[in-house]
Amino acid sequence: MERLQKVIAQSGFCSRRKAEKLILEGKVCVNGTKITQLGTKVSYDDVILVNGKLLEKKEDKVYYLLNKPRGVVTTSSDEHQRKTVLDFIPEEKRIYPVGRLDYDTTGVLLLTNDGELTNLLIHPRNHVEKTYIAKVEGLVSKIDIENLCKGIFIDGKKTARAKARIKKIDKKSNTTLVELTICEGRNHQVKKMLEGINHPVIKLKREKFSFLTAAGLKSGEYRRLTVKEVKKLYSEAQK
Ligand code: URA
Repeated sequence: MERLQKVIAQSGFCSRRKAEKLILEGKVCVNGTKITQLGTKVSYDDVILVNGKLLEKKEDKVYYLLNKPRGVVTTSSDEHQRKTVLDFIPEEKRIYPVGRLDYDTTGVLLLTNDGELTNLLIHPRNHVEKTYIAKVEGLVSKIDIENLCKGIFIDGKKTARAKARIKKIDKKSNTTLVELTICEGRNHQVKKMLEGINHPVIKLKREKFSFLTAAGLKSGEYRRLTVKEVKKLYSEAQK
């Protein structure tokens, strides 16, 4: 919640002092009620009319990086009352995740209320890299890796060129750790790509989103992005 005069001024309609004057003069309505009290707090969902005209609100932008735990959904609310990624971040503004991680996937997840940056980051045209570490069934071969890089058909459409390498082979447990970097964000893409080479995923973690990692954050912990990081994300997405 923010003070009404701040929200009016932030929208660029007028200065904060002028906004206070308008409120005192009874020229401001919130959700159909005339407001003349200066301290009144409003939310960005409230409908504000100034001089009878709808105010186009501009909210401060916030940016978070969450180290998403397993067993958490990447939506704002869940019909089965499961924990959502938003439960980890005490933020009053309406933020939303940049793309999705599956319920059982862990690792780097960005959350923001900046729709422009979100669109830039998730559009495949902008080639923003996402790096995953997957523990898969079976022993992955060099040819499998080449196939992952060249592209795998998912639902009749080939995936774009990717980067892949074997991080570790464990003959004893018959599993392989694969690092896979993709620029798209199709539904369950990493799991489907690995299934496409007959090595189903056992565990999946997003290690990197562009240049950002979850270094220093325990599972479930989050931090705000710095101004420098936000600028770098814009420039990475607009390269
Ligand atoms: N690809 C997947 O299959 N799952 C994720 O959570 C992210 C990418």
